[in-house]
Amino acid sequence: MTIKEAVFKPSATPLSTNKHLLRWVEKMADLTRPSAIHWVDGSQEENDALCQHMVERGTLIRLNQELWPGCYYARSDAGDVARVEDRTFICSLSKENAGPTNNWVNPFEMRKTLKGLFRGCMRGRTMYVLAFSMGPINSPLSQIGVQLTDSPYVVVNMRIMARIGLPVFKEIDKDEKRVVPCIHSVGKPLAPGEQDVPWPCNKEKYIVHFPETRQIWSYGSGYGGNALLGKKCFALRIASNIARDEGWMAEHMLILGVEDPQGEKTYVAAAFPSACGKTNFAMMIPPKGLDGWKVWTVGDDIAWIKPDEEGVLRAINPEAGFFGVAPGTSPKTNPNAIKTLSKNSIFTNVALTPEGGVWWEGLTDTPPAECLDWQGQKWTPQIGQQTGRKAAHPNARFTSPASQCPSIDPDWEAPNGVPISAFIFGGRRASSVPLVFQAFNWSAGVYLGATMGSETTAAAAGIVGKVRRDPMAMLPFCGYHMGDYFRHWLTMQRSLSVTPKIFHVNWFRKDADGDFIWPGFSQNMRVLRWVVDRAHSRAAAKEAPIGWVPRYEDIDWQGLAFPKEKFDELQAFHREDWKAEVMGHEELFIELHDHLPPEMVYERELLICRI
Ligand code: OXD
Ligand code: MN
Repeated sequence: MTIKEAVFKPSATPLSTNKHLLRWVEKMADLTRPSAIHWVDGSQEENDALCQHMVERGTLIRLNQELWPGCYYARSDAGDVARVEDRTFICSLSKENAGPTNNWVNPFEMRKTLKGLFRGCMRGRTMYVLAFSMGPINSPLSQIGVQLTDSPYVVVNMRIMARIGLPVFKEIDKDEKRVVPCIHSVGKPLAPGEQDVPWPCNKEKYIVHFPETRQIWSYGSGYGGNALLGKKCFALRIASNIARDEGWMAEHMLILGVEDPQGEKTYVAAAFPSACGKTNFAMMIPPKGLDGWKVWTVGDDIAWIKPDEEGVLRAINPEAGFFGVAPGTSPKTNPNAIKTLSKNSIFTNVALTPEGGVWWEGLTDTPPAECLDWQGQKWTPQIGQQTGRKAAHPNARFTSPASQCPSIDPDWEAPNGVPISAFIFGGRRASSVPLVFQAFNWSAGVYLGATMGSETTAAAAGIVGKVRRDPMAMLPFCGYHMGDYFRHWLTMQRSLSVTPKIFHVNWFRKDADGDFIWPGFSQNMRVLRWVVDRAHSRAAAKEAPIGWVPRYEDIDWQGLAFPKEKFDELQAFHREDWKAEVMGHEELFIELHDHLPPEMVYERELLICRI
């Protein structure tokens, strides 16, 4: 069937025999009153039909298929462009369990509010019953969810981001597996005969998690992590609760494999706050001079990590796609991402070119002479210069299948995951924090992750560029008390026979003129090589007050003329800066004090003594 012939017809025939599931779907339909129900089978035909349906309604634009095969384009409502952290709630039974860094509302009260909001909220729309597996379907590390949603845009994005449809329903029926129920509505019911808008949503937004009952309710947004509930809501906020209870870890981390010229592969998981280059790092191509080295991609955003029977931490990527930030992604910064997104992808809030292609700031050195910006307005480089308006929204995204990534690891879907030898924490810091250092041991490493700071980016609504403490890059994603989360990290070590080494990196240090000192991107491979060699105890380092640091001669500089003075500037440790830095650590710790593990206090004291 060609894409054009596809016609979407909802099918209310259940694809599962699971009684709990059937009853819940019925109950939710009774509450939300959709005009039709469709059980999503996940097939290509269904996907084509849904896309065609959205093209007809103006939600999607089919891109020029010669240039962008299988690709579609969407523009969101101008008020629905990022995760809304101030509208995100962790409704545990006690406020104490959510902790001071999460928004909390009494779950009984919240359920009442949600019932009110959801009553009749799908009128005039189809409710899709979308079963999804986070992680490969045959993996013991995977988890299953079912999302009810009135957004076909969500369905086609989730089809890229997770394993969905028939095989997942089969799994649910086979094992009567525990399912995380997720309900989502754009919050814009249609009156009879009312004309729909291309991007329905509601000004009022609620992204709600019930950790004890493992449920998710999302209302009012159709965008990204607010609406693709497998991602941040399930794979991080709910999964972090499941992981704590079951002795594993759900982390906001990329996973990559480093292969050395001898063919030995070492896997590393790394946490960076949103929009700090995780996708670029996960898909890095080593630079000239480091010939024979290769980076393999397992995941770019989330890692589920569990000790195996031998006490080795093994990780899976629970996702099946990339929901990457488009601006800044280019053949120069991330050639693998460009190849990944070249087909079967959905672009949201980028610019549309006259030939039916997409563009965003940074994609090419020369912008198109004219295009339509992310709000559908005419944009030219001159208009951009005069008004400061960007063609693409800074949080514009591509949704692309991970399987299309040229660097995808042959083991990326291995049911038992890949063994993790090192953790890397990183932030976006203009000053104080060196390019790379290694924590003295696990608890010092946990302290390092717990005190991570980064300048805020456009991935979340709010001010951009202010340093905020973002422990393990999990501040917006940890579904319980952050102090207990640190404790969980500390206790994880007890189940390990091999303790991964922990590192901190900062690609973003600036010189006195405000320019980045480190070239970054593929050159980060030099840092990664030192990390991997340290993980195998075969690279030298020097002891510094903050941890182990490489000397100039410990980094492989083949193919890059990077003078020692510049490296010294990058690695410089200034006592005064670090005194201020440690004071910054205190800010968050005061907030968390009643749940803060004593190790964190001792580590801080030790650090103060050393500086
Ligand atoms: C993301 C984020 O979308 O962290 O991955 O905001
Ligand atoms: Mn993320």
